Amino acid sequence: MAGLVRIYKKNMSDSRPIGVFDSGVGGLSVLKHIKELLPNEHLFYVADSAYAPYGNKSDSEITQRSVAIAHFLIEKNIKALVVACNTATAVAIASLRNDFDIPVIGMEPAVKPAALQTQSGIVGILATPGTLTSQKFSRLYKQYASDVEIISQACPGLVEQVELADLTGEQTRALVQQYVSSLVDQGADTLVLGCTHYPFLKPLIEEIAGENISVIDTGSAIAKELLRQLQNKTLLNLDSVIGEQYFWSSQSSSQDVVHQLWNDTVIINELGI
Ligand code: DGL
Repeated sequence: MAGLVRIYKKNMSDSRPIGVFDSGVGGLSVLKHIKELLPNEHLFYVADSAYAPYGNKSDSEITQRSVAIAHFLIEKNIKALVVACNTATAVAIASLRNDFDIPVIGMEPAVKPAALQTQSGIVGILATPGTLTSQKFSRLYKQYASDVEIISQACPGLVEQVELADLTGEQTRALVQQYVSSLVDQGADTLVLGCTHYPFLKPLIEEIAGENISVIDTGSAIAKELLRQLQNKTLLNLDSVIGEQYFWSSQSSSQDVVHQLWNDTVIINELGI
């Protein structure tokens, strides 16, 4: 009997979708990695663009939005939730894990791989003011601060530029120049992208930082962690189908921006919460 249960479990397939959300379109950089690693999973993405950036909102407002979006996705029968936002993870992940009985995977700036990789011993972190002032980040910071020097740089304005899909314009370039130069001038040879909007600016960040600086983003690590949790809980979709993606946004003007960043024509549904 135990053997039979094991065989049944091994072959179980779960075709329910995976929910992913961010304060806006930044989480699409994580969604790309998830789609690549788990091509037959159905993905439901929520961009809370009307409320972006989360970085300048209060903790209670960020938690309230995160919980409301999680409820919206749970009603759509998701089997796992990815919080593709460093700020929402830092502020609201404990509430989400407490309220919902499905795997909840969050972001965390990739300080560990950066600490292992740096040659100069100085790691620079680019993140939103909200992430950098969170308790979760200060715990992460302390964990590695004895091995390497960590310099953090708050980047107000960058999320807004990505929300406009302005990845190379004059204002975006000026902001990236200011933030990246500050870290490089202080000796950082490894830069961590601590916000899911920033991978869309990676080519510009690399160009401004110069060729001896490596730039690390966390999207692929999060996709691997999602795969690990789905495997452990026998939640993978084993059907040989190509997964579909559905999108919702709290802002109607997201349509063009999503098209540009996702590189595909998709329908953006109104979030309505
Ligand atoms: N993409 C979000 C993050 O990773 C941006 C946060 C914000 O809206 O301030 O932190």
